[in-house]
Amino acid sequence: MATAEELQTLVLTTLERESCIPNSKDLKTVNGDALDQLSLLGVLNSLKSKEMVDYEAIDVEIWTLTEEGQQVAKQGSHEARVFEAIPAGEEGMPISELQSILGDAAKVGQGKAFKNKWISKKGGNLVRATDSIVDQTQKDLVEIEKNSTHNDAKLLNELKKRKLVDKQKRTSYKVTKGPEFSLEVKKEATDITYEMLQSGEWKTANFKKYNFEAAGVPPPSGHLHPLMKVRQEFREIFFEMGFEEMPTNCFAESSFWNFDALFQPQQHPARDAHDTFFLKDPATTDRFPRDLMEKVKATHENGGETGSTGYNCTWTEEDAGKLLLRTHTTAVSSFMLYNLAEKAKKEGVFRPAKYFSIDRVFRNESVDATHLAEFHQIEGVIADRNLTLGDLIGFMDIFFKKMGMEKIRFKPTYNPYTEPSMEIFSYHEGLKKWVEIGNSGLFRPEMLGPLGLPPDVRVIGYGLGLERPTMIKYGISNIRDLLGHKVNIAMIKEYPVCRLDKKMGKELVGISSNDDEE
Ligand code: PHE
Repeated sequence: MATAEELQTLVLTTLERESCIPNSKDLKTVNGDALDQLSLLGVLNSLKSKEMVDYEAIDVEIWTLTEEGQQVAKQGSHEARVFEAIPAGEEGMPISELQSILGDAAKVGQGKAFKNKWISKKGGNLVRATDSIVDQTQKDLVEIEKNSTHNDAKLLNELKKRKLVDKQKRTSYKVTKGPEFSLEVKKEATDITYEMLQSGEWKTANFKKYNFEAAGVPPPSGHLHPLMKVRQEFREIFFEMGFEEMPTNCFAESSFWNFDALFQPQQHPARDAHDTFFLKDPATTDRFPRDLMEKVKATHENGGETGSTGYNCTWTEEDAGKLLLRTHTTAVSSFMLYNLAEKAKKEGVFRPAKYFSIDRVFRNESVDATHLAEFHQIEGVIADRNLTLGDLIGFMDIFFKKMGMEKIRFKPTYNPYTEPSMEIFSYHEGLKKWVEIGNSGLFRPEMLGPLGLPPDVRVIGYGLGLERPTMIKYGISNIRDLLGHKVNIAMIKEYPVCRLDKKMGKELVGISSNDDEE
């Protein structure tokens, strides 16, 4: 193949000699090869932009033989081969023998040979019905092979129906000289330089024209991680519903807020180092409210003022002081509810509150395609007087409908800090089954009592995961392609923004908050 430079020289020298190239299909390289018209077009466009040449496209329909057509042009049509295979004379040949000689061609050719009255049947054998034949199909195909712009439309269409020929469009070019024609391609300047101004060269320099059609270079910019894009969408839903965002920027938490304030017993298996990452340095804190601590201790040990029997075991400050990476964002919710109660006490009025958070939590789990040791939780908490389970269910319905999930169901479950507790299920249209999408409940009196909220204040809460909807949205099947050191940064840059549209909601029902039991 000729290089672009060779093509350019060929075009320019031909134009210089003959002043016009009537049809570029007739141009030949030095070796006598035909030109690749697509490469030529590139060269013509470049010369045209410098006004050195002008060109027009010449579109023609050309006919080429299909593989079968080429075979017929060489060996004759199937019907002619059937005729040739049958010996002259009365005897003829049995069909089976014809088939063993010609194979598939025997089947295809026989019908047409009968129709042409070239052969007939005699006593079970095939015999010739004429002395000689003219194989017009073969002749036509040989002709078309020689002259691809053959124009007997009826014949061509008939051959096309028989899949012997095919129509193609071929483009070549008529090339003429442009106003700036020259044998030499002048270098075009793209910028005025200091040197050009100094030497005066700018007066005569040939400047390259601006291409206003060019797509341009995308400006460099920062990129949000897909999880953050999906998080933003959930945020919008919460803001729309009047929620306030909780400060979740501190990942390290005391066991007190993560477990004790949530009435999670100190002997609970989740508080084991196998499930929770405990900090080594510093390993403990005593920075939690003393008065609340005393009430929490009493509630755990004997129910305190809540009327509950508690867990009937010793509660130690030492365990509550252990620092850890929070295992759920409910650690922050418990702290926020404490603040809410304190504020109500100070101001003498309780104001209902709606809080949400979407942030990272950590669990000491073995990592696989769907689990990491850290993930994001979406959490919502509503505190108001006399809320009921019906409010929770009604609220869930609205929240999930905003994500396009219409069919929601609840199943009783157990959380140390809520009673009743419900797992949230949504019907997955694709999987045709109910899948778990989250966890929820009404906070227990043992959890709310020590905080000192007015006695008729109820708090409902729920949580779900952020990773699953993100993976579904961006078609990621391995969580390690979304988060961690194996993530492809280029891909993150290219991901589009996210919209939680109704259609996506249908897919979202694969979200699972986390498939752990508390
Ligand atoms: N903390 C729970 C979880 O990790 C979710 C939840 C939040 C449940 C609030 C009830 C109330 O799954």
